[in-house]
Amino acid sequence: MKVLIVNGNDRERQIYSIYLDNLIDGLSIAEAYSCNMAKEVLANFGSEISLIIYTNNTNDCGLYPFIKDHYPNIPFVFLSPDLPEEISELSGFKTHNPKNDSIITPVPPNDFKLAVIKILKPLLVNKSLSAFQRVKLIHFLRFNRVLCDVFLKLSDQKYVKVFKENCKYTKEEIDKLRSKDVDYLYIKNSDFERFQVTFNKMPFLIFDTSKMSEQDIIDAISMTNLMLNHIINSMGFSNDAITLAEKSVEQTIKLIEKNKSLTNLIFEMRNKKDYLYDHSYLTTIVCCEILRQMDWSDDRNVDQLCMASLLHDITLTNSDLALVLDQNDPELKKFSKEDIKNYIEHPTKICTMLEKIDFVPTEVINIIHQHHEAPQGGGFPERIRAMKLPVLSCTFILAHTYVKKIYRSNFDYQKNNEIVFELKKDYDVGNFKPLLDAFIKFHQENRHLKSA
Ligand SMILES: [Fe+2]
Ligand SMILES: [Fe+2]
Repeated sequence: MKVLIVNGNDRERQIYSIYLDNLIDGLSIAEAYSCNMAKEVLANFGSEISLIIYTNNTNDCGLYPFIKDHYPNIPFVFLSPDLPEEISELSGFKTHNPKNDSIITPVPPNDFKLAVIKILKPLLVNKSLSAFQRVKLIHFLRFNRVLCDVFLKLSDQKYVKVFKENCKYTKEEIDKLRSKDVDYLYIKNSDFERFQVTFNKMPFLIFDTSKMSEQDIIDAISMTNLMLNHIINSMGFSNDAITLAEKSVEQTIKLIEKNKSLTNLIFEMRNKKDYLYDHSYLTTIVCCEILRQMDWSDDRNVDQLCMASLLHDITLTNSDLALVLDQNDPELKKFSKEDIKNYIEHPTKICTMLEKIDFVPTEVINIIHQHHEAPQGGGFPERIRAMKLPVLSCTFILAHTYVKKIYRSNFDYQKNNEIVFELKKDYDVGNFKPLLDAFIKFHQENRHLKSA
């Protein structure tokens, strides 16, 4: 059973996905940022979709007339600050399917969940909703103190407290849970909302360095790489790609140590323990996997892509900015004028900084300058099209986009097919094409292995 969320705003789509994730056993979420993309998802997964939740903020035309004609039996929920009566394409939509409905936003999370359950499982309405939200266990590895109670799920009705509010925990305790195949721990809904947890930030977890030696702190920071290696390996990426990336990252960091301001920026980025470093490091591994598939994994290519991955967003002080897709993403408007300027200028600004550093090759500077370009020429700063983008930049852009998508899916392997399908839609062009083909082949073989 799948719910298709169609919403042009990345952040909103992510929040609604989080609300629905884990709501009913076996429910998964498919996402589309445009109506055209929604149509393609329906063409591929239509028989699995049990509900469409549509917000009228996409860049293309409305979705409902298409649904009415082609998928009249799938319930359609209009989620918007606008009234459905004000939208001409929705005229009379509540009479076309008795399950069609509208939800006026903003909507409290529980009301939203209840409205969805009401459609999907009418019998569950009178049962109480789960009072807990799950959090991937792996997140706990790089912190050591919880600011709210944390629970282990024994059954749908039974949760036991494993960590008490404010308690410090050890890596061994987390490893013990991992060895018992525990993938998630749980916190109360109220704490999830109080701390404003998102896939990018876990503010109820902190890293308490009191009573830690300097070496302990350095060791704990390096846990992030171990954790990310483990995650990406469980998604089917090869040990060879991980080892290659790890070695190259280590060498890059040694080089960077020659430059004090770069060292400080890298330390700050790693110390924040959020998306900024995670996605930089994961991009190195995905680049290495693509290079491996293309038989291009000579030292030069690997080192250049790994250095570019580590440094490409280094001046972004706010990790939420690294999640903005491009200069046209409506998300960008939510930031301050200074943040927007920082975002638009960061590819050029970082390159200007790196040009003065002798160990940074020109190829790395080019990759960083082009890391927000897009296949159809809609990126920035130069609006270069796929045919004119060098292959190494294309490798980076493809890997970076994939990482953004798997991170957003909370590393859920079940969603990998949809992610690869979305990439195919946008990147099957120009110099991206052979890279994409190799990447898809890798995923197909990998899926085969996973199901064997
Ligand atoms: Fe960037
Ligand atoms: Fe980035």
